[in-house]
Amino acid sequence: MQGNFIYHNPTKLYFGENSLSYLAQELSSLGQTVLLNYGSGSVKRNGLYDEVVAMLRTAGKNIVENPGVMSNPTLEKLQEGVRIARENKVDWILALGGGSVCDYSKGVAASTFFDGDYWTAFWLEGHQPAEDQKIIPVACILTMAGTGSEMNAGCVITDAAKNYKVGHVFDSRLMPRFAILNPRYTMTVPIDQMKAGIYDIMNHIFEQYFSGEDDNTSDYIAEGLMRGLIVAARAAVKDPRDYEARSNIMWTATWALNTLLKCGKKQDWMVHQIGHSIGAWTHAPHGYTLAAVSMAYYRRAMQFGRPKFERFAQNVWGVKTAEQGLEALKQWMLEIGLPLTITELGATPGMIDSIVSTTNYFPAGYMNLQPADIKEILLESL
Ligand code: NZQ
Ligand code: ZN
Repeated sequence: MQGNFIYHNPTKLYFGENSLSYLAQELSSLGQTVLLNYGSGSVKRNGLYDEVVAMLRTAGKNIVENPGVMSNPTLEKLQEGVRIARENKVDWILALGGGSVCDYSKGVAASTFFDGDYWTAFWLEGHQPAEDQKIIPVACILTMAGTGSEMNAGCVITDAAKNYKVGHVFDSRLMPRFAILNPRYTMTVPIDQMKAGIYDIMNHIFEQYFSGEDDNTSDYIAEGLMRGLIVAARAAVKDPRDYEARSNIMWTATWALNTLLKCGKKQDWMVHQIGHSIGAWTHAPHGYTLAAVSMAYYRRAMQFGRPKFERFAQNVWGVKTAEQGLEALKQWMLEIGLPLTITELGATPGMIDSIVSTTNYFPAGYMNLQPADIKEILLESL
């Protein structure tokens, strides 16, 4: 175990079928005016919106609504949310939805009291809000498993005009104050989104696992999470109403990216950089963009980090060689029904140079990719 780190995660979690009941007690310590962010209608169709609004009204809160937070939220929508939060002097923000709504809420929370161009400061230049800047508290009622946004400070926003999707990890002040995770809510998630979420979880684990050669506690935890996810994913695809599988997927998603696994790890995150760029050009679900380039990416990474890929083969898949490990991963992805090419997501050969031009790159994991390498990975993934 190498490296120096501070571990601090302030998010309180309520998990399970009764978790929403805890909202009532949390409300007593939260301010009067709440900004209620949600997406394009799923929470209205499944009744969650009505339940939550009734609880907020019972507690006497003023509700400021901000519907229409789209999947892969845009800069334009972020600016609208900041305007609404400023005009209504909101005291706290409640995110009702998936990772997009949760991410978006953090973006509004960080930007409302920022004096200046928050897009440039936070997302383009990677700064944190000043120590003395006011941050609006965020809470999250999660309806889809995948991103880990419910217990981290990540916030991914797309500048749609420039096809530029960029993530920023804020400091721990932006982690949700609490998150409510009821696996039942995820039952209405469309199957494609469920599968995308499953691979997003797997890839979050990969991004942290495939780096370093030290004996690291995080890698043992990662292997356990991967093994559980492989089993749960198979069960959920067979029967999406399997509560045990859906609850294991939801809990794994949280632990895959809640700041625990990265402790003492260099990490990678280049599959995510490429995936974000593909998403900005194709609008495909986030997890699918990762799946579609993974085989080409990890075949290449294996050449530089072979011992870890052998360990992955043996400890996760029960096979011997690094190549057999990747083959087992591929077969599992096919079994789940994940896309293995970017063509399936609508990408064309003519788009490749544009996707390369909007991909952020840095030395990561076992490789130090340059634009020409990213182009080769994308061409191999067509
Ligand atoms: O908009 P609504 O109507 O809510 O529909 C959503 C959306 O269309 C739907 N959905 C969610 N819960 C549902 C449901 N439909 C029926 N029943 C439910 N219970 O599913 C669609 C996708 O939702 P979205 O929130 O976009 O998905 P996800 O949770 O995968 O979030 C994706 C966003 O998170 C970012 C991604 O880049 C992307 O912008 N990420 C955030 C990360 C973080 N905070 O650390 C890390 C990730 O790597 C990722 O980059
Ligand atoms: Zn992801």
